[in-house]
This record gives sequence, structure tokens and C-alpha cells, in this order.
Amino acid sequence: MSKKFSKDPLRGMEDYYPPDLREENWIIDNIRDVAEVYGYEEFESPQLEPIEIFAAKSSEELVNEQSFIVEKKQGERLILIPELTPSLARMIAKKSQELKKPIRWFSNPTCFRYERPQRGRRRQFKQINFDILGEDSLYGDLEIFNIVVDIFTKFGATAEQFQIYYNNRRFIDAVCLLMLNVPEQKLPVVYKALDKAEKMEEKEFEKYISEIFQDRNITQGILKLKKSGSIEELLEKFDNIPKNFYDSEGYKELRDFENLLEQANLLDYCTFSSAVVRGLDYYTGIVFEVYDTGTKNTRSIFGGGRYDDLLSLFSDERISGMGFGLGVFMLSLFLDTYKLIPQDIREMDYSDTIYIAGINKNVSAYALEIAQMIRKEDFACIVDYRFSNLKNQLKKANELGNMITLIIGPNEMEKNKVTIRNMISEEQNTVNKEQLIDEIYKIIEDYGN
Ligand code: HAM
Repeated sequence: MSKKFSKDPLRGMEDYYPPDLREENWIIDNIRDVAEVYGYEEFESPQLEPIEIFAAKSSEELVNEQSFIVEKKQGERLILIPELTPSLARMIAKKSQELKKPIRWFSNPTCFRYERPQRGRRRQFKQINFDILGEDSLYGDLEIFNIVVDIFTKFGATAEQFQIYYNNRRFIDAVCLLMLNVPEQKLPVVYKALDKAEKMEEKEFEKYISEIFQDRNITQGILKLKKSGSIEELLEKFDNIPKNFYDSEGYKELRDFENLLEQANLLDYCTFSSAVVRGLDYYTGIVFEVYDTGTKNTRSIFGGGRYDDLLSLFSDERISGMGFGLGVFMLSLFLDTYKLIPQDIREMDYSDTIYIAGINKNVSAYALEIAQMIRKEDFACIVDYRFSNLKNQLKKANELGNMITLIIGPNEMEKNKVTIRNMISEEQNTVNKEQLIDEIYKIIEDYGN
């Protein structure tokens, strides 16, 4: 016997059987509804991009260690997109003159990251993106937060189950520059360290940053940033805060944003966290990660933030953007944890599908003609190609849960008629072909959901 290939997909990749896809599509459709009520338009960009645009703006780790690289010709390297934001920036830069601001776009790309597969992490995944561009005010940030809350509440989640942990990179800049005297060029290192902090033990983290900065004051300061649940709690940990800190853009912007959250009644869903900085290089303002408040899903469900100069790779124009990328798989784990996915969503609903049972092969052409006729009226129907043994065909229709079966035999064919059977009441009657559609409507009106 010849060797058989594995039935499994590649490691970290997933086959979606129809019930899995139905569930995923149900989640995506709900989010699509939110996009619609906020006026976000859908767009799409290629799955392959030149590697340079990600190398310049995403993160070194993402490009060097976590990307799938495709070699087109020798030396010409392309990347299977690990995220969408650089592609979005490219598309906006190309047409920025003609696009009306603010631009509100969403997309649902398939992304690829060469990560160790684990709970919530795959190598191929759907990541829904919402971004608002050309809206510099904090109302843009507020809108994104509102969208996040609406997505969760649309599924029935409550503030007890999820929280948006937010911070502001400009605020952390001010803390580092004005209070800790971190040299400006070292700020990206602080972000990298804080982003890794969550995965490290306290002692390990302390060792890691003290080796990088070789400065006790900075090390202790960054340790304080690791966990503070409010601005007050963080600032209480520092003595002699200079006045220019309170005048800094970062401090003021964060306070203003909190006021907006309060006015919009979003505070219940949001918590400040000085440790949230996001791993990608391009963020400059408000940043956030959404977490499950329970213990089952420890990783961030998804995150995003404001980026001010992403377009600079493609043009001299400066357009600021704010948005997030939501891993649909991550969200599905959260929804599953709180039983927020209806059980029956995974099953195909055949109740409105009409089942056509032809009694023998001689009626097959007539049965197929009837099928086409009712499909033209936008009714779904399936034809049983066994063309024998009516009892078995009716049993099959029952198993599928069809509400209506059409029975077609030689008598029906000869007289241009069809027998229509209500599978719920088990009544049946024979009608002219021309009356059939009306009869179908009648049963659906009386018995449909
Ligand atoms: P990110 O934090 O790299 O941000 O990814 C956002 C989300 O994508 C994650 O929180 C998670 O839900 C999902 N995700 C990432 N990697 C995987 C994986 N291996 N398997 C499953 N899901 C995954 C970004 O990508 C930014 N571009 C988001 C953004 C849009 N910021 C502004 N606009």
C-alpha cells in the first residue's frame, strides 16, 4: 500500500468544518453590525506585502522571529502579513488627497505569525481591524473605546467579565523623561521591557531591566510602572514630582481622556494600567489591551492604540490614526468561557429549506424543473437524488428538520401538479404547479419562526 499523507493541517493552522465556520461567521457578523452603526467601511489589502514596510514600523521581533517569508525570486522577500496596520497606512497614503477625513475603515484579514501554537495563538488567524484616521482629537480614541464596549455588550458580556486596560505612551514618555531621566533614545527599550513584564516574575524582570539600564533610579522607577491601577496610585510612589510633569502633554492628555470616559459612562469598563504599552513600535498616544477579568483566559483578548506617524513611510503627509486588531479566535475563547455563543449556532438550520422527493427516475427532469422554479423565488431547496422509496426520503427530510417536502410522482408530473407536505402537521395536498409558491408561503406564514 502506498504511504498516506497526514490528515492534519500544518502545525498552528486550522481546518474550519462547516459548524466551526458558522460559529466564526456568527461572531464576525455581529461585529460587522457594530461597524455599520458607527459608519465604518470595509476594505481589503493583499496578503503578501514587501517585507520592508513591516520591518520599518511593526516590531523587530514580529518581522525577524514571527513571520512567514515568501521568496518570490532569489533575494526578493515578501511577507505574509502578520498584521494589517502598515498595509492600511500604505492604502491611505496612496489616496489621502481624495479620501474624506476622518476615515473610518474596518477589515477582516487573515494574518500569519510564526508563533508557538498555544491557547489563543495560532499561526494563521483572522484579525478584525477598526481604525479611524484623520481625527486628531481624543474623540477618535473615545469612539474606538465605545466600539470595543459595544462589541462586548452586543454579545452579552458585562463589565464584570472584561476590562479595557488603558495607558498613554505620551504619559509614560513624560514619566520616563521628566521623572526618571531616561535618555530619550532609550524610550523604545522601556516599552519593550514593560511589554515583556507581564510574562516575567518580579525578580526576573528586575534583573532584566537593571542589566539594560545599569541605573538604580531608572530600574526602581520602571518597576513602579509595572503595576499601578490608577494614575494616583502610580504617582504616589514617586517623591518630588517636577511641575513640568503636570504640564506635560502626556499627563494632560491622559487626564482629559479619563474625563471623556467618565462623560461617556465608560469608566465601568475601563481601568488605567501603567504596564500597558503595547509591543508594536508605531504607537504614540493612548494604548489599550482588553482582558478577561476571570482566570481562564490570561492573555490579552485584543488591543490597539493611537499612532501618529505611520504614513511617513509612504509620504510626507501626517495623518494620525487610532484603532485595534481583534483576534477572532481569542474573542471566541472569551465568549465560550462565559457561554455567550448560542448552542444552536453550530448547527445548520434546514427548517426553511424545501426537500424535494421524486418517487422514481422517470420524474427526475420534472423534479429538477420544480427545484429551479422555487430557487428562482429565493427558497432554498435540496433534491433527493435517490428517486425511490418515498418513506426513506421523508425520513431524511425529517432528520434534517425541513418544514416542507414536495412529493413528485408520475401522477403529479402528468398533470403538472406537485404534492406539498407540511412536515409539522403531516398534512399534504396536491396543487397545480402555478399555485405552488403561494402554498409554500402559506405554510411558512403559519408554521415558520
Ligand atoms: P497585536 O497586538 O499585534 O496588534 O495583535 C492584535 C490581536 O490580534 C491580538 O491581541 C490577538 O487578539 C490577535 N492575534 C495576534 N497574534 C495572534 C495569533 N498568533 N493567533 C491568534 N490571534 C492573534 C496589531 O496587530 C495591531 N496592528 C492592531 C492595531 C490596529 N492597532 C491599531 N490598529
